[in-house]
Amino acid sequence: MKDIRRSRVKQLIEGAIPAEQQTVDVKGWVRTRRGNKNVQFVALNDGSSIKNIQIVFPLDKFSEEQLKPITTGASLHVQGALVPSQGKGQSVEILAEELEVYGTADPAEYPLQKKGHTLEFLREKAHLRPRTNTFGAVLRIRHALAFAIHNFFNEKGFYYFHTPLITASDCEGAGAMFQVTTLPVKDAPRTEEGDIDYSQDFFGKMAALTVSGQLEGELGATALGNIYTFGPTFRAENSNTPRHLCEFWMIEPEMAFYDIRDNMDLAEEFIKYCVRYALEHCKDDIEFLAQMYDNELVDRLKHVCEEEFVRLTYTEGIEILEQSGQKFEFPVKWGIDLASEHERYLVEKHFRKPVILTDYPKEIKAFYMKLNEDGRTVRAMDVLFPKIGEIIGGSEREESYEKLMKAIEERQIPMKDMWWYLDTRRFGTVPHSGFGLGFERLVLFVTGMQNIRDVIPFPRFPGNCEF
Ligand code: 4AD
Ligand code: MG
Repeated sequence: MKDIRRSRVKQLIEGAIPAEQQTVDVKGWVRTRRGNKNVQFVALNDGSSIKNIQIVFPLDKFSEEQLKPITTGASLHVQGALVPSQGKGQSVEILAEELEVYGTADPAEYPLQKKGHTLEFLREKAHLRPRTNTFGAVLRIRHALAFAIHNFFNEKGFYYFHTPLITASDCEGAGAMFQVTTLPVKDAPRTEEGDIDYSQDFFGKMAALTVSGQLEGELGATALGNIYTFGPTFRAENSNTPRHLCEFWMIEPEMAFYDIRDNMDLAEEFIKYCVRYALEHCKDDIEFLAQMYDNELVDRLKHVCEEEFVRLTYTEGIEILEQSGQKFEFPVKWGIDLASEHERYLVEKHFRKPVILTDYPKEIKAFYMKLNEDGRTVRAMDVLFPKIGEIIGGSEREESYEKLMKAIEERQIPMKDMWWYLDTRRFGTVPHSGFGLGFERLVLFVTGMQNIRDVIPFPRFPGNCEF
């Protein structure tokens, strides 16, 4: 091997290195191998692009024996001349001069030996599926979206505020929590009443994984002005749907002095920025997924960037649903929590664009949402998307200490561990707003995938914690 710098496949394919018989060095995994008695063609992928680089092995230079370990999944180091390609499908290829095999992948054993596995099959092989075209594309898009999110908020002067993953409060009420404890499962210490004695636990009280960073985020916003969180959240609900995970990532901006309109404006601008960023930076990957799974994908993404989102109240939304003549699995009437079928009817059938639904009945929303003058609705806002349903949930927050306490009492929420949250309303309280974007739902939308378990490397759902 010559002492030369490695190139990424993406650089070679995109012409960053001129194809003028110059020797290049690549490393990657074999996707396919084909050929005849005179020449063998190997498609090599190193994760930098959906595209492979073709490597040509002339059999007068390489023996059968030398090439034998080159099977799908094997890892190689190759040096050779980068030349314009003779064949169709690629502009350049490498005429191999040197070969080193890092690792073989026995074709009888390697699970991804064949092409065209179902997504269900690949879910069982989550440890290897990033090596497929589909998951390579999804994971590069996921990265780009995460990057876009930080870009967006950084450009706007928001601070990335890190909220704890282990918490002692469950006031959000967003879902069942995963407990965090170091007490022995068997023979846990008991109080005189016979309950588990958490005063002897690691934190001296019951603790769990967070369902949302919002409450702590509000502490940040009422000091720094505008903040956002971006981290994993955990919900121990037993929902086996294509849109729920037990461990998912959420982005939660929280802004002092924003009312619900400012909040909606920000949400719309934010999500359009992310989708546009992906369209601009992940063209090859999005086109690949469109071609494989969803030929309306690119149009749908462009449409979302161009259209103004519809804004209407929950009450208006219910009226539309009632008058739709549509048969829903869950009957519609004022007061119900909208199901995905209702949300998608409004977005996909009625308006044919994203909808921001506001002013929900207070009974179906969280305690911290600002009460409207009517006394029965709160200043909530859900952003509803085609194919997805709810992608963002948020609200203007109740800044009045008295009204907030009333909402807490009505819901009989135990507030003994929440004094720190209430202090935001006791000392220098301000009007403020925020929302939460489910990161995987955004990735689901941008990739056009059908199941949320296919847009995170290692999905957590009931009964699944293998990899
Ligand atoms: O509507 P949610 O429960 O709102 C909150 O947690 C608020 N604290 C947000 C805020 O105002 N700061 O969740 C927000 C979003 C949903 O709109 C959805 O996109 C996503 O998080 N989400 C889930 N994504 C995947 N799996 C789950 N189990 C999810 N639950 C919610
Ligand atoms: Mg919600």
